[in-house]
Parts: sequence; C-alpha cells; structure tokens
Amino acid sequence: MEVVPLASADEVAALGADVVEAAVRAGGAVLGLATGSTPLPTYRELIRRYDAGLGPSYDGVRCFTLDEYVGLPAGHPESYRATIARELTDPLGIPADRVQGPSPELAGLPTAGARYEEALVAAGGVDVQILGIGSDGHLAFNEPGSSLASLTRLKTLTEETRRDNARFFGSIDEVPRHVLTQGLGTILRARHLLLLATGAAKAAALAAAVEGPVSASCPASVLQLHPHVTVLCDGPAETGLTRRDHYREVYDAKPAWQGL
Ligand code: GLP
Repeated sequence: MEVVPLASADEVAALGADVVEAAVRAGGAVLGLATGSTPLPTYRELIRRYDAGLGPSYDGVRCFTLDEYVGLPAGHPESYRATIARELTDPLGIPADRVQGPSPELAGLPTAGARYEEALVAAGGVDVQILGIGSDGHLAFNEPGSSLASLTRLKTLTEETRRDNARFFGSIDEVPRHVLTQGLGTILRARHLLLLATGAAKAAALAAAVEGPVSASCPASVLQLHPHVTVLCDGPAETGLTRRDHYREVYDAKPAWQGL
C-alpha cells in the first residue's frame, strides 16, 4: 500500500485524475466508480481537462459503479446510476450503455448480485477502482461486520451511514435502508485500488483502515490484503496516521520512473 499525504483536496483531485487518465490512455480501460462527496473534485478535474482538450479520449472506456440504493423510483436524482451520469460519465461523453451498476429492480433482487459479478467478470475486471471511505470505515456499502470475502449482494445500511447520506436527500427518513453493493471480495479483484480521503471527519477511519488490524469491524482494512493500493489523502485526513512522516519520505524519494 502506498499512502500519499498531500497538502490539499485539490492536490488529491489532481493526482487522482492523473491515475484515471493514465489507465484510460493505456487503452480499453474498465473504471470502477465511487459516489459520495469525496471523488467529486477528482471527477470535476477530469471533466475540466477533457473540456479543455487536455484529457484522453474516453471512447472504449467501460464503467462499473460500486453500489446502488434499493427502493428509489427509477431515475431518482440521488440514485447512484443518475449521480454518476450527471457528475462524470455524461460530461466525459461516455454513453449510458457503457456504464453499469447493480440493478435495483425489485423483481430481480435475489439474483442482482450474482448477475453483477458475472458482468464484471465478462468485462475482464476493473483496472482502476476509485474508493472513498465511510466515517465508520465502510467501503462502498460494506458496513462494519461485512465479510472480507463478500461479493455483490443486498445489504442494510447502518443508522450512521443513513445520517451521513441524509444531506443528499433532505432528511434521514428519505434515505433508503437497503442497498446493493459490491462486496469486499469483489473490490479486491480490481487491479488497482485508489482510495481518496479528505477532511478531518475521515481521519479516524483512515488510520484504522491503513494502520489498524485487518478486521471486518473496519471494512476498509481489507485494503491491506491487496497488492496495489494507492491512498491519496489531504492534511486533515492524515492526522491519525502514526507513520505519516514516513509516507511523506517515501513519496518524496519516489523514483521518477515509478508511477502510482
Ligand atoms: C457512501 C458510499 C461510499 C462512499 C462513502 C463516503 O455511503 N456508498 O462509496 O465512499 O459513503 O462518502 P463521502 O465521500 O461523501 O464521505
């Protein structure tokens, strides 16, 4: 795992965009996309570069989202399908049929997880998976207690996560209780995991994920089992990391030929 302590959320966004663009430039990329507030500056940076003619072509790119609410009306603006289209894939000109998420239709719920796993395998797996971290250490919608080997399935959100996400809905009562989410085992299959963490509210969860024991009690600690993880964090998010000076030394001494 490489932890990159950066000065600001803007630097996190710029480096995050560099990682995504490098995968796209390599050709035929499969991108794993996260929702939540944290990746938005990275998405805006990708769009800014694309609009300025500085970004790569997104022709041939395929996208898979991490998770989806269950029980929202089709097309609801806070569905993750609609959110990703609005915040990233539409502005980059990636057609809707190249963006997939777990299907929340009630009739198909019992098989939705298995079907999503099949789609991910059929696409050849995810090249770069963007991740945020919940204040309780959740990844995607894998709440504490989730199996470290889990695959895409139906989950029930904690009160804390529903409270955290109420800002997108107006009130906690409108936040769905159920979701479909890639499992922690699903996330581990992506070839490169890019965790973005900004702001003081993420400091404790980030420290537990990076330096605490690997445990289902902190789902994001499963990242310690993956061979290629990059953590981009800003000053307020890094404050709980006991080895942060070392991470900075490592990054400052990084050979120019060695990418992220
Ligand atoms: C949500 C999403 C996660 C996201 C997390 C943190 O519940 N399902 O993928 O990483 O919460 O969100 P934010 O970045 O808004 O803090």
